[in-house]
Amino acid sequence: MTDQPPVIEINNLHKAYGPLEVLKGVSVKAPRGHVISLIGSSGSGKSTLLRCCNLLEDSQEGDLRFNGEAVTWKGTGHNRRPADPKQVLRIRTNLSMVFQQFNLWAHMTILQNVMEAPLTVLRRDRAEVEAAARAYLDKVGIGDKCDVYPAQLSGGQQQRAAIARGLCMEPEALLFDEPTSALDPELEQEVVKVIKDLAAEGRTMMIVTHDMKLAADVSDHVVFLHQGLIEEQGAPDALFGAPKSERLRGFLSATHAD
Ligand SMILES: Nc1ncnc2c1ncn2[C@@H]1O[C@H](COP(=O)(O)OP(=O)(O)OP(=O)(O)O)[C@@H](O)[C@H]1O
Ligand SMILES: [Mg+2]
Repeated sequence: MTDQPPVIEINNLHKAYGPLEVLKGVSVKAPRGHVISLIGSSGSGKSTLLRCCNLLEDSQEGDLRFNGEAVTWKGTGHNRRPADPKQVLRIRTNLSMVFQQFNLWAHMTILQNVMEAPLTVLRRDRAEVEAAARAYLDKVGIGDKCDVYPAQLSGGQQQRAAIARGLCMEPEALLFDEPTSALDPELEQEVVKVIKDLAAEGRTMMIVTHDMKLAADVSDHVVFLHQGLIEEQGAPDALFGAPKSERLRGFLSATHAD
């Protein structure tokens, strides 16, 4: 092991929507090259944790660090906000998020979708970005779909386009929120394969998923959230093979039943 700081470090994070406490002190680390899966029932706070991590949501207490650099805050409690907009942009552009619903631009071709953020946010050279975008679309198996619009693709192809779009930002880490949940089972497997390939090449990833097989196959570490707290965490073999908490056992048996 090197002594590099984790790419993502979330420490004692608290998040409430008004009176509703959603995260009650959650700490999660994603060391470089590791895949962390977040599992738990609906409403346990998984998406909120990813969105706080990406600074899409404010949080009231706790620290976030990226490659050792702490997010600076101003204000406290419900008035706490990131202090430095440049830092927020830098962090956000280094964490590509992939959503359940793909969120591709309907009026742009697949190639334009993948090129958009590197051109407008990172202001990179167009020819270079185009070459990279085509290579990433090839990598996820839809290199022949560059010139069509999202509506002309299957859900699995759209999700792979969304992953290529995330990769084209050359991020430090990828955050996935239920990347396969909107897909039919056979299309789901196309996306699972891409995620497994990314894990095998050493990408740092945090994945919220209901797919326990995916979590078991790709993760270095699995975190089970229950009502805004970590109920249990560990290596996938231990967590799935010998769950300690009653709640995790109940969750796993309910998940395997469907
Ligand atoms: N914008 C919001 N305003 C108010 N409450 C919210 C908001 N977003 C989420 N919540 C609440 O926060 C809690 C956690 O939601 P979150 O979306 O993080 O759950 P989740 O674990 O991702 O669930 P699921 O598996 O259904 O996606 C829920 O009780 C939800 O209703
Ligand atoms: Mg969610």
